Amino acid sequence: MKKLTVLLLIMLCAMQVKATEQKFIRISTDATDLILQVAPNGRLYQSYYGSKLMNEVDIKNLPYYVHAGSDGSVTPRGWEVYAGSGAEDYFEPAIAITHNDGNPSTILRYVSSERKEITGGTETIILLRDDKYPVDVTLHYATYPKENIIKTWSEIKHQEKKPVTLWRYASTILYFNNANYFLTEFSSDWAREAQMSTQQLQFGKKILDTKLGSRAAMHVQPFFQLGLEQPAQEQQGNVLVGTIGWTGNFRFTFEIDNVGNLRVIPAINPYASTYELKPNEVFTTPEFIFTLSNQGTGKASRNLHTWARKYQINNGQGDRLTLLNNWENTYFDFNQELLGNLMKEAKHLGVDMFLLDDGWFGNKHPRNDDHAGLGDWEAMRSKLPGGIPALIQLSKEAGVKFGIWIEPEMVNPKSDLFEAHPEWAIRLPNRETYYYRNQLVLDMSNPKVQDYVFNVVDKIMTENPEMAYFKWDCNSPITNIYSPYLENKQGQLYIDHVRGVYNVFNRVKAKYPNLPIMLCSGGGARCDYEALKYFTEFWCSDNTDPIERIYIQWGFSQIFPSKAMCAHVTSWNKNTSVKFRTDIASMCKLGFDLGLKDLNADELTYCQDAVANWKRLKKVILDGEQYRLVSPYDCNHMSIMYVAPDKNKSVLFAYDIHPRFQEKLLPIKLQGLNPEQMYKVEEINLMPGVASTLDVNGKIFSGDYLMKVGLNAFTTTNANSRVIEITAQ
Ligand code: GLA
Repeated sequence: MKKLTVLLLIMLCAMQVKATEQKFIRISTDATDLILQVAPNGRLYQSYYGSKLMNEVDIKNLPYYVHAGSDGSVTPRGWEVYAGSGAEDYFEPAIAITHNDGNPSTILRYVSSERKEITGGTETIILLRDDKYPVDVTLHYATYPKENIIKTWSEIKHQEKKPVTLWRYASTILYFNNANYFLTEFSSDWAREAQMSTQQLQFGKKILDTKLGSRAAMHVQPFFQLGLEQPAQEQQGNVLVGTIGWTGNFRFTFEIDNVGNLRVIPAINPYASTYELKPNEVFTTPEFIFTLSNQGTGKASRNLHTWARKYQINNGQGDRLTLLNNWENTYFDFNQELLGNLMKEAKHLGVDMFLLDDGWFGNKHPRNDDHAGLGDWEAMRSKLPGGIPALIQLSKEAGVKFGIWIEPEMVNPKSDLFEAHPEWAIRLPNRETYYYRNQLVLDMSNPKVQDYVFNVVDKIMTENPEMAYFKWDCNSPITNIYSPYLENKQGQLYIDHVRGVYNVFNRVKAKYPNLPIMLCSGGGARCDYEALKYFTEFWCSDNTDPIERIYIQWGFSQIFPSKAMCAHVTSWNKNTSVKFRTDIASMCKLGFDLGLKDLNADELTYCQDAVANWKRLKKVILDGEQYRLVSPYDCNHMSIMYVAPDKNKSVLFAYDIHPRFQEKLLPIKLQGLNPEQMYKVEEINLMPGVASTLDVNGKIFSGDYLMKVGLNAFTTTNANSRVIEITAQ
């Protein structure tokens, strides 16, 4: 008996030691620490989030941020990592559940944590549990030390006898304690994507959210920058850059509380989405991907770019295809012969592929405009008598690859599909139907619809294994919001729809892992890091006016690498030169969307040369480090450069937008070069017969000189561009 007591005592001591050891959970990258602490009340609080602490010994001194009550007593309200609802925290929670007995509270306590190695880093997994209700929440933190990226998501599960009602389900909460907070948001619209604006946050909430369902980011992009103390700046200052991987309704809540602390809550938008969670069903939140930079947004973007190419984007390390698209050139008006000629034009231009856009399908309901045909993915016999096989044959004869446009999640009421399956469309049973672009969104929560959408791709690929590329569009938000499939569970529609979309993306990627696919959504309304697990690139905007593109591409570059951003040369803004338009598109994944007949002989020669230059330099432009040197938001110019990882090659892009008369021009100071290395500076992408006017063209400078003194590459000419190749000697 005595022995047993001693044994029990030893075991108890051991457990206590273990409990103290686990009190702090350090989630680190090479540059940042996110330190969580289990407080004596058993709950998990954020103790620290900031630049990496040098001394491990300091960690035990970190507070766990509980608040003093007005009477001086300490309350458990604090920086709770996964704050519950219905208790002492009066601000926005991470989780809210109504249990079967009607109790709306959730309080989670720490149970255990573990770590495991993942590709590129480490994952910390923390289990929390409510001690009054059988609810488990598992927090995941994947850290990528070198790139200073953390991604976090949570899993919610319960074992009550019946489903519970879930009405808050954040990916996480991050807390900040600063004097001032400045939010940069990326508002959007069709042809006006990723417009940056900054505001200071004040007491209360600022919410960035969308309720569009599909084409969900049409009005706001799923990412933000948060300047701590001062507005986010390019080359200095502390800034949190965050983005949620969710191709549907998202919501970022920024809430400053009564004591001036800020909580940032990335989540699926709970709007109209109370979720009935069945016992043992796991509700997985989207990934929130974030980085804290103490060197401004430039460094944060470079970290995101490198991380995304390595670990997130489909085939992020692979090559990309240059292309000629026919949309802006022909719209719906083409036939087999014309396409054959365009393929020859693609070859003549020097691009890798011809991409056939909208208008190639539908027979009973031919897709000759946007009123009919969506859903009927059979080649239109009147336009294309030989179908897709003949087009592939023609592309082979021309010597280019062939890709095709689809929009498989949508249906026109004028289609065989709708006639056969009206119940597959999201549509209210008892109201007049509202059509956005004359179409409806298919109900992706329905597994039969998922099979159908998967089969659209699978059938084309099975019949045409040489199909080299898809442009996957999504032009409509969810309208007439009612799922015939979900019946009395309409609260699941927005969430299950997106999950259904992912099921299909998953199946496509599993069966065709090497198939490059462009993510498109009436321009750039679907640009997020979850979809990019399945897609190789995205269409930034239908707006290809080069002046507008300067801002749009600048905006998206804050989060995404140039490799994922498709930019095409078109006839938008013919007041600008073909050279200017091409030089703007050349800073991303280059394509063309015009007829060569629109070009004169010199312009054509110029384009051929620019394509060849881009292909020669694409390793630098797509895989190099990007430095945004001069912001179009600050002046009448813009400059950006890319540096190869070995620093032996760099490409500088310099654009003049609308310079003022006799404006003072500043030199562009380069970045990222080796200061001790000598580099030759050469202007490329010149019109035939036009000599460079760059004063130092052909000269050699040290990297130090180029970074401290810089290059006078700007001019006072409207819509002027320079592309400068910088080569180590
Ligand atoms: C969307 C896309 C365009 C084009 C059209 C076709 O608007 O963004 O690039 O593909 O659809 O209808």
